[in-house]
Amino acid sequence: MKQLLTNATLLTFAGPDGPRAGAAAGALGLIRRGAVLMDEGRIVAVGPADQVLKHPDARKGRIHDAGGRVAMPGFVDAHTHPVFAEPRLKDFELRARGKTYLEIAAAGGGIVSSLNGVRGTSERDLTALLQERAARFLACGTTTIEAKSGYGLDKDSELKSLRALKHLAAGGAIGVVPTFLGAHAVPPEYQGRPGEYLRFMAREVLPAVAAEGLARYADVFVERGYFGTAEAGEFLRAAKGAGLGVRVHAEQISHSGGARLAAELGACCADHLDHADDEDLGALKAAGTMACLVPGSNHFLGLGEMPPARRIIDAGVPVALATDFNPGTCPCWNMQEILAIAVTRMKMTPEEALVAGTVNGAWAVGLGKTHGALAAGMAADLAVFDCTDYRELCYWFGKNLAATVFKAGKVAHAATDLRL
Ligand code: NIG
Ligand code: FE
Repeated sequence: MKQLLTNATLLTFAGPDGPRAGAAAGALGLIRRGAVLMDEGRIVAVGPADQVLKHPDARKGRIHDAGGRVAMPGFVDAHTHPVFAEPRLKDFELRARGKTYLEIAAAGGGIVSSLNGVRGTSERDLTALLQERAARFLACGTTTIEAKSGYGLDKDSELKSLRALKHLAAGGAIGVVPTFLGAHAVPPEYQGRPGEYLRFMAREVLPAVAAEGLARYADVFVERGYFGTAEAGEFLRAAKGAGLGVRVHAEQISHSGGARLAAELGACCADHLDHADDEDLGALKAAGTMACLVPGSNHFLGLGEMPPARRIIDAGVPVALATDFNPGTCPCWNMQEILAIAVTRMKMTPEEALVAGTVNGAWAVGLGKTHGALAAGMAADLAVFDCTDYRELCYWFGKNLAATVFKAGKVAHAATDLRL
């Protein structure tokens, strides 16, 4: 069905064909009194309302008057870990009592404490959990998520996690870019043998992931106590050989070489980057590897330090922002909250934060040509927010402003009190 959204304060993110850095990193492509005509899941026309309304199909479908509200591409959340069973409230409370993430992990909490939940949950139940979580992302204006496995850490449970993501994607409610993160942590069966574990993952699990088309990317947590660059590199090379793209959890807790490895392998992006130095940033820039920053995890872990967004932007590396939604370090699915943290704690401008959560998010998951901006031919994934100044999206923190969300040209979510 055709749908026309009109009378919107439209952020199109029109701009160069590629991730935005430098001056383009804050360019919104703002159109006041803008309109978007959608049909068959795609955008047919976008521009000033008086021009779009001249299109012969403009009045043939449903018309939504945005009343001057902000409308923009749905957020593309480029880093999430949604395939888990239970929240980790024990870790949460231990942190409040002064323990650190690594101390809690060393004492049996952390990532491996989520294993039993996933191993003991059926594919069907994991899918149902994912569907519930996807509805929450959508309700906050996110229309595509990159989603990682990584809480199964054995062959069956990693495949089960990725198959659950495939079922979620097939439902079409939200876009899903699946990532194989069997290299999230060393499971108890391989304790002290990270290299052997990753060789097992490469030999036994990766071929099945590739054969079933279950993942577009492979990821590794390169960190003290998790995986070193040698075994991570070996695994990621195997993943590339199997046709997967590469992304890396890099420099999150200590300077561990993940960023340099990401650049060396031509990774799509390196994520976290809290401890990246200038040489790392130079290597990322030279390799065309993006930075995906997840300051919600710093916030939730109660860390004083934030990822060095300004230094990364000044180095000319394009930045995406993501939630890092997961039960350990960031149980938050709302990109508006992440934008607020990015502006207040990392000193990104609201314009940079908006670009990072949409168009750069799309490039960070390989979808930049079709998602993350509003142009004829691109996916009709849009969110309308209950505000008329785009800066409000980073300002009313803790409040979800999403009013109406379109996924593939259909209304996928409408706030009951704000129907357009
Ligand atoms: O991105 N760093 C590794 N992975 C997650 C944490 C996952 C967890 O603690 O469950 C992150 O912060
Ligand atoms: Fe993560």
